[in-house]
Amino acid sequence: MDHYLVFGHPVRHSKSPFIHTLFARQTQQTLEYGLAEPAIDGFAAALQHFFAQGGKGCNVTVPFKEQAFTLVDQLSPRAKRAGAVNTIKLTDDGVLLGDNTDGAGLVADLTSHGVTLTGQRILLLGAGGAARGALAPLLAEQPTELVIANRTHSKAEQLAAEFHDLGTVSACSYEQLTGTFDLIINSTSASLQGELPPLAATLIHADIAIYDMMYGATDTAFIGWAKQHGARRTMDGLGMLVEQAAEAFTIWRGIRPGTKQVLRELKRNLG
Ligand code: ATR
Repeated sequence: MDHYLVFGHPVRHSKSPFIHTLFARQTQQTLEYGLAEPAIDGFAAALQHFFAQGGKGCNVTVPFKEQAFTLVDQLSPRAKRAGAVNTIKLTDDGVLLGDNTDGAGLVADLTSHGVTLTGQRILLLGAGGAARGALAPLLAEQPTELVIANRTHSKAEQLAAEFHDLGTVSACSYEQLTGTFDLIINSTSASLQGELPPLAATLIHADIAIYDMMYGATDTAFIGWAKQHGARRTMDGLGMLVEQAAEAFTIWRGIRPGTKQVLRELKRNLG
């Protein structure tokens, strides 16, 4: 039996075992997918132990993604860009390959919701790890413009400079945002505390698409706020979670699972 798991801290509530077990059933793959919660300073040892015991691959989540980036033997180009690894595969040659499927998961979910990115004006809120992971896949879709706004403005500026070679990307403070955006993506962790990024309500209009990378049984604070100000098209990050998992599963098993049914079952479980 091939073994996979997700490393995180905390990880008890991770949906990854549920998702990958459904993927395996659907594609008739025989595998086991578990959870591991090493001590904050024990990730490197736990990772080494897992692969020494015959583990085939793993996911890595908060707070270990940046550390995983430094521990693998090889990095995919998108993991290099993201500065973080959320998927590791042990190759037949014994090489630990680090990848990052988060941004691809976001783009796949937006696409499955029928949201166009090409030729659109996109506002990305936040400049942490989640934003960094999303930037290359978003810019690959060739939006006309991608603006990054962050509470700590210097971090937005730094990200914009780092991804400048991939498209038209700039930083703007929350107070100075103007014009009409087609899509706003919230990558901040504000919703975790029930908080809102300091965004002017005038940026919300009826035709805008709103995406919050967070999710919950009920609307996130940001989605609730956007709806209150007239947004009709809102999406939360549950689909991104399933899509990034599908991408990881494909890397490990060479077969792409369907995501619609799994997403439906997850939603039922949440509610
Ligand atoms: P992640 O890996 O989830 O991106 P992170 O790297 O800690 O986590 O980044 C969190 C992001 O959410 C940052 O952009 C942070 O803004 P700062 O860089 O100014 O700290 C943003 N954030 C968190 N809470 C916020 C809040 N209440 N309002 C606005 N932005 C917030």
